Amino acid sequence: MVIPGTIPGVGTPGEKPFAGRTGIVTGGAGGIGSAIARALAAHGARLVLVDSDDAVESVAAECGAIALRGDIRDHGLPGRALSLVASGSSEPVAGPDLLVNAVGTQVRTAGVEVTEEDWQRLVDVNLSGLYRFCREAARPMIARGHGSMVNVSSLSADRALAGIVPYAATKAAVSQLTRGLAVELGPRGVRVNGVAPGYVATPMTADLLSDADNVARVLARVPLGRLAEPEDIAPAVVFLLSDAARYITGEVIAVDGGFAVT
Ligand SMILES: NC(=O)c1ccc[n+]([C@@H]2O[C@H](COP(=O)([O-])OP(=O)(O)OC[C@H]3O[C@@H](n4cnc5c(N)ncnc54)[C@H](O)[C@@H]3O)[C@@H](O)[C@H]2O)c1
Repeated sequence: MVIPGTIPGVGTPGEKPFAGRTGIVTGGAGGIGSAIARALAAHGARLVLVDSDDAVESVAAECGAIALRGDIRDHGLPGRALSLVASGSSEPVAGPDLLVNAVGTQVRTAGVEVTEEDWQRLVDVNLSGLYRFCREAARPMIARGHGSMVNVSSLSADRALAGIVPYAATKAAVSQLTRGLAVELGPRGVRVNGVAPGYVATPMTADLLSDADNVARVLARVPLGRLAEPEDIAPAVVFLLSDAARYITGEVIAVDGGFAVT
C-alpha cells in the first residue's frame, strides 16, 4: 500500500483523522479511484469500493475495505452499496459520511463519429451512474445532517479538446451537477466538491500516453512539466473530504499541473 504523507490541515495517516467515518468510492479499482481509496483507508476511513472490474477485490483487500462488484448503470447498485455501509452500524441512520465518484469511461474519436452505443455508454456511466450515487448517498447524509462528496470531473469539462467531445460534455455536466448539489445540500450540512485532473497515467490514458508525440503535446501545456500519477490527485480529494475543507463547497479544483491556466 502506498501510504501518502501528511496532508496539511488533514492530519497524518498515523493520527487517523477519518477514523469512525464510512465512505463509498465508485471506480475504486481504477487508477485514480484506487489511489483515493488507499489514501482514505490510510487516514482511517472504512470504505465500500464499487467497480465493475474484478480488481476491486484486491484493492479492497489492500484497504481493509468491502468490495462491491457491479455496473454503475445498474440502478440497484447505490442501494446495495449503502446497505454494505450500514452493515455493522449501530446508528439509527447509518452512513456514509463520504462519497467519492471516480468511476468513468472514455472514447477517443472525432466528436461526429462517436457511435450511438458509445455516446449512450459515456452518458450512462460518467453522468447518470454518478448522479444516482450522489442522490442515494445524499439521503442518509441529509438525515444525519452531515456528509461530504467529491466527484472526479476533468480538465476537459471547461476546455474544448479535440477527440474527446462527448466525454468532455459528460464531465462538464458532472462539474455543474457538483455545483448545483452544493447549493441545495449546503443548508443540510452536506458539502459537494469536485476535482478536475489533467493528464494522469492510468489505464484510461495508457493508449494515448504510449505515443511520445502525444506526451510531448500534453507536456507543452503543463507548467509543472510532467504528467500526473494517481497519487497526485488523491491528496486533493482527501483534503476536500476532510474537516480542513469545512468551509469549501461547490468548488471543482483543478489538479492538472497548471494546464488550465495556459
Ligand atoms: N486519467 C486521466 O488522465 C483523467 C483525467 C481527468 C479525469 N479523469 C477521470 O478520473 C476518473 C478515474 O479515471 P482513471 O483515469 O483512474 O481511469 P481507470 O480506467 O483506471 O478507472 C475508471 C474505473 O471505472 C470503472 N468503470 C468503468 N465503467 C464502469 C461501469 N460501467 N461500472 C462500474 N465501474 C466502471 C473501471 O472499471 C475503472 O476501474 C474518471 O472519472 C475519469 O474520467 C481521468
